[in-house]
Amino acid sequence: MTAPPARIVDLGPDDDLFPAWCEVWAAVQRDDRPEDPPRPAQEHVALGRELVAPGGSRDGLHRAAVTGDAVVGALRVLLPLRDNPAVAFLDVAVHPVHRRRGLGTRLLAEGRAYAAERGRTLFISEVDEALPSSPGRAFAERHGWTCDLVETRRDLVLPVDADRLSALEAESARAGAGYEIRTWRDRTPDELLEDRALLERRMTTDAPHGDLPVEEEEWDGERIREYERSHVARGRTVLSAGAVTADGRLVAFTDLQVPLAQPGRASQAGTLVLREHRGHRLGARVKAAVLRDLAAQFPEVRRISTYNSDSNTPMVAVNEALGFVPAGHLSSWSLRL
Ligand SMILES: CC(C)(COP(=O)(O)OP(=O)(O)OC[C@H]1O[C@@H](n2cnc3c(N)ncnc32)[C@H](O)[C@@H]1OP(=O)(O)O)[C@@H](O)C(=O)NCCC(=O)NCCS
Repeated sequence: MTAPPARIVDLGPDDDLFPAWCEVWAAVQRDDRPEDPPRPAQEHVALGRELVAPGGSRDGLHRAAVTGDAVVGALRVLLPLRDNPAVAFLDVAVHPVHRRRGLGTRLLAEGRAYAAERGRTLFISEVDEALPSSPGRAFAERHGWTCDLVETRRDLVLPVDADRLSALEAESARAGAGYEIRTWRDRTPDELLEDRALLERRMTTDAPHGDLPVEEEEWDGERIREYERSHVARGRTVLSAGAVTADGRLVAFTDLQVPLAQPGRASQAGTLVLREHRGHRLGARVKAAVLRDLAAQFPEVRRISTYNSDSNTPMVAVNEALGFVPAGHLSSWSLRL
C-alpha cells in the first residue's frame, strides 16, 4: 500500500496534538502488552513540561509524524544536561497500523540530526520485548545499533506469599542486625538527602549496565528533590525503604512507584546497597520493608514489575525468593556517530 505523505512537526506538551502523540505510545503499549494498562498521558505531559522548564537536568524535544490530521508516529529526544554530555536518549514509536512504511526510519533520522546539532555523538534507545521477536529489535539491528544490555522483566502477583515474606524478613533481619530500616513516601527525610544522592550516583556506576556507554551521573540533594517532584507531577507516588547505620548514614535504599490513576500495577524502581555494606542482606530487607508498606498503604496493587540484568545475581535471587516470575525483556541499544 502506498504510504500517505507524512509531515513531521515539533510539539510541546500543551499543544493540541500532544494528546494524540501520547496516544501513539498507548497504542504501541496495548499492542505489545495487552494485559498492562498503558502509561497515562499525564506522565508524558509532565516529562514534556520538565524539558521546557528552565534550570532542569534535561533538555530535549518531541516531534510527531502526522498524516492528514492524525498523529501516526512519535519521537522524543532527551539530552542530559548535568552529565553524559555526549549522550542523547531517543524514543521512537509508530502506531501499529502505520508500520513498515518508513515512518520509524524518518523519525529516527530526525532525532539523530537534532541530537547531532546539539553536539551529541552517542545515541541510546530502549526496546520493550514482550515476545522474543520484537519489531523494535529488528528495527534497531537494521539501523546498525548495538545491543549493550538485556534486562529480564519479572512480575510479582500480590499479595506476596506470607510465609515467603516472613522468612525473608526474619533471615535478613538476623544478617543485618545493627542497621535500622526506615520507610518514607515521596520525600526523602532531610537528614538522609545527601546520602540518598550518593546512592543514586552509585546506581549509575555499580548497578550492572552491560556495555551501555554511560558515565557516572551527577546527583546532589537538589537533584533528588527535582526527581521527587517529577514523580509527583507525573501522577505517581513513590514508597521507599532504606537501611541506616547506627551513626545515621543511609547506606541502602529501594523505591517502589505506584501510578495513582491506575494503582493496580506498581513498578519496583531502583534498589542499591553501598559496596562497603553488602553481605548483610540489606537489599532483601529493604525490599521486604517496602512490600509491607505497600500492602498497608495500597492494598489495591495487584502486580509489581521489576527489571534486572541477568548478571545481577544477588538482586535476581532476592526477587525470585519473593516470587517474581519472568515476563519478557527490556533491551538497551546504542549507536556512536
Ligand atoms: C520499531 C518501530 C519504531 C519501527 O517503525 P516502522 O515505521 O515500522 O519502521 P520502518 O518502516 O522505518 O522500518 C525500517 C526497517 O526496520 C526493519 N523492521 C522494522 N520493523 C520490523 C519488523 N516487525 N520485523 C522485521 N524487520 C522490521 C526492516 O528492515 C524495515 O525495513 P523494510 O520495511 O523495508 O523491511 C515500530 O515497530 C514501533 O513503534 N515499535 C515499538 C517501539 C519501539 O520498539 N521503538 C524502537 C526504539 S529503537
